[in-house]
Amino acid sequence: MTLIHANKLILIGFMGTGKSTVAARLSDRLNLPVVDVDAYIVEKAAQTIPELFEQKGEAYFRQLETEALQHILEADTPVIVATGGGAVLKEENKALMTKYGQVFALTATPEDIIDRVKHDANRPLLQGEVEKRVYDLVEKRKASYLFAHHTVDTSKLSLDEVVNEICKLWQAE
Ligand code: S3P
Repeated sequence: MTLIHANKLILIGFMGTGKSTVAARLSDRLNLPVVDVDAYIVEKAAQTIPELFEQKGEAYFRQLETEALQHILEADTPVIVATGGGAVLKEENKALMTKYGQVFALTATPEDIIDRVKHDANRPLLQGEVEKRVYDLVEKRKASYLFAHHTVDTSKLSLDEVVNEICKLWQAE
C-alpha cells in the first residue's frame, strides 16, 4: 500500500501574485518550513532561472520543475510549497498537487502584477514589453489556476488579511 501524505500547503498563482511573500508569512504563523520550487531548481541545477531559460530552453526548465514538484510533494513532511507561476501548465503537475496537498491560488489584477514585476530581471517570460506580456500571459493562463481548492485575491486584501484567510481555510481542513 502506498501512503499518501496530503499534508502540504501549496501556493500557486501567476508571477507577482505574492506567493513567496505569503509563504514566508504563513511559515511564521503555522510554524511550517517553506520549500520554494524555483529555489530548489536553481540549487539543483546550479544555474539561475534566466540562465536555464537562455541556455537550455523553457522545456528543459519545465522538466526540472516537474521533477522538483515530484520530489518535494512525495516527501512525507508537512511543508508550505511556493510554486512558480507556470507550475500549473502540465496536467501531471496539477495531479501531483491535488494529490499531496491543499492548493491555494493567489490572484491579482494585471495592473498590480505589472507593478510588482516591472523592475525584476529574474523572470525571463516577462522581459521586454512587460505590460503586454503580462496581459497576454494572464489571459492565456487564466483557466490553469482554477483547479485550486481555494482562491484568494491579493489585490483586494492586505498581506495580513491574505495570510489570515489562508490560515482559516487550512485549519478548517
Ligand atoms: C514562471 C514563473 C517564475 C519561474 C519562471 C517561470 C512562469 O516563478 O518559475 O520564471 O512560467 O510563470 P514566479 O511565479 O515565482 O515568478
